[in-house]
Amino acid sequence: MALHSEFERILVTEEEIQNRLDELAAEISDDYRGKGSIVLVGILKGSYMFMADLARRLTIPHYIDFMALSSYGSKTVSGAVRVLLDLRADIYDKHVLIVEDIVDTGNTIDYLSMMLNARNPASLKSVVLTRKVGKAINTPVDYLGFEIPDVWVVGYGLDFAERHRTWPYIAELKPEAYSGK
Ligand code: IMP
Ligand code: MG
Repeated sequence: MALHSEFERILVTEEEIQNRLDELAAEISDDYRGKGSIVLVGILKGSYMFMADLARRLTIPHYIDFMALSSYGSKTVSGAVRVLLDLRADIYDKHVLIVEDIVDTGNTIDYLSMMLNARNPASLKSVVLTRKVGKAINTPVDYLGFEIPDVWVVGYGLDFAERHRTWPYIAELKPEAYSGK
């Protein structure tokens, strides 16, 4: 199958993602077994596919909720994160697991963790599908799918300007596809 002309290469194949999800779901199910229902908090839009595939593999009681966030201003300036859509449910005294597609600078998940911790959940952890190598080294991630190079990636929920979300794999975008835009 020919690769899309804007893609440099496939970084994580569909099979690698699906196999890793089996492992992550087993580990998470073991860790939370006997603790009652947990709340999965998916961060829109990027985590929608990851959330669907991960949640269906969990063997513990859980329910799902979503938040949508956007960062203020430039990507290079670490700052506050704007909440576009908040949780429906109160997470006070609940076991909460953040489900995030990617950690780049760590700014989004750091800010989100601070926000959710202020609501006094019973516990707060995160499962992150991909993290860019060498970035966000001080951001704690409890369950990590894959370390990837520090490049722009798309597919499996991840986008570039709303495009390429629905590929079943994670691909590296060619620099010429996003530079100058
Ligand atoms: P951070 O706050 O720098 O860690 O960036 C996190 C957010 O930026 C993610 O939730 C994504 O929405 C977006 N993001 C960062 N890198 C990429 C990428 O390579 N592809 C698609 N989205 C990305
Ligand atoms: Mg995101």
